[in-house]
Amino acid sequence: LHIAVLMGGWSAEREVSLMSGEGVAKALESRGHQVTRVDMDRNVAAVLAGIRPDIVFNALHGTPGEDGSVQGMLDLMQIPYTHSGMATSVIAIDKVLTKQALVPHGIPMPGGHIVRSESLYAGDPLPRPYVLKPVNEGSSVGVAIVKADSNYGDPIARDAIGPWQEFEELLAEPFIKGRELTTAVLGDRALGVTELRTKSGFYDYDAKYTDGLTTHICPAEIPEEIAQRCLELALKAHDILGCKGASRSDFRWDDEKGLDGLYLLEVNTQPGMTPLSLVPEQAAAIGISYADLVEIIVEQALG
Ligand code: DAL
Ligand code: MG
Repeated sequence: LHIAVLMGGWSAEREVSLMSGEGVAKALESRGHQVTRVDMDRNVAAVLAGIRPDIVFNALHGTPGEDGSVQGMLDLMQIPYTHSGMATSVIAIDKVLTKQALVPHGIPMPGGHIVRSESLYAGDPLPRPYVLKPVNEGSSVGVAIVKADSNYGDPIARDAIGPWQEFEELLAEPFIKGRELTTAVLGDRALGVTELRTKSGFYDYDAKYTDGLTTHICPAEIPEEIAQRCLELALKAHDILGCKGASRSDFRWDDEKGLDGLYLLEVNTQPGMTPLSLVPEQAAAIGISYADLVEIIVEQALG
């Protein structure tokens, strides 16, 4: 097949996407496909019209590659592409729309509401500790955990809290103490559960992409009923949202509360494919190599 690997772009996750894309491109080449690497710019439709690939492997993260825009463009151009379609992507990139879609189906998610970031100087939107996050970013870009002693009033402490002030609006959610878990879904199969243990206590951008800052425990050493529940919830969320190919659901688990302490945070429709990424690692743990994984994602898009 002639496969265009779409990567890069201009989101805050550009560098992550270039790593995902390069990994994918090499894997596809190793399987004998003809690969064209496309670092997305504003001219992407014209570039793809010139290339006329059989399929686009979407290795973009964030806006506009994960938010439905690129998916809509490819639909109009009638070029098949990997991962989720437009409507799913529009909902899944938005952490508020995702809650609105999943909570009525019984998926446990933390409560929360949108706040204007200026309003934070006037007072806390929720009892501490809580989390502030941009509604539609990935890789923890702009995420801040506000603890008992964080201080918005003092500009130095404000920076220490995090880059949240770059966003006009933020989602404020109660902080779920405990453990960080994640589950990949590939088609109709949940692959496993990984626990992320960070040195800093916060699985932020640096902890995600700097080798050695986070220990991945795969499969997670957690009670069987919690692991089963993660698999079940990730598969259910994937189905309700109508995800295709690979997705990854991220969880927090308050281990003092057993099953009642498990919360789904979000569903990633364009999960990372870098060397430190979690979906390839879970696939490898059950005998699916990186190149097999990439090939399966392509087959599912064409199937
Ligand atoms: N947003 C990053 C790429 C992930 O979900 O893996
Ligand atoms: Mg995400």
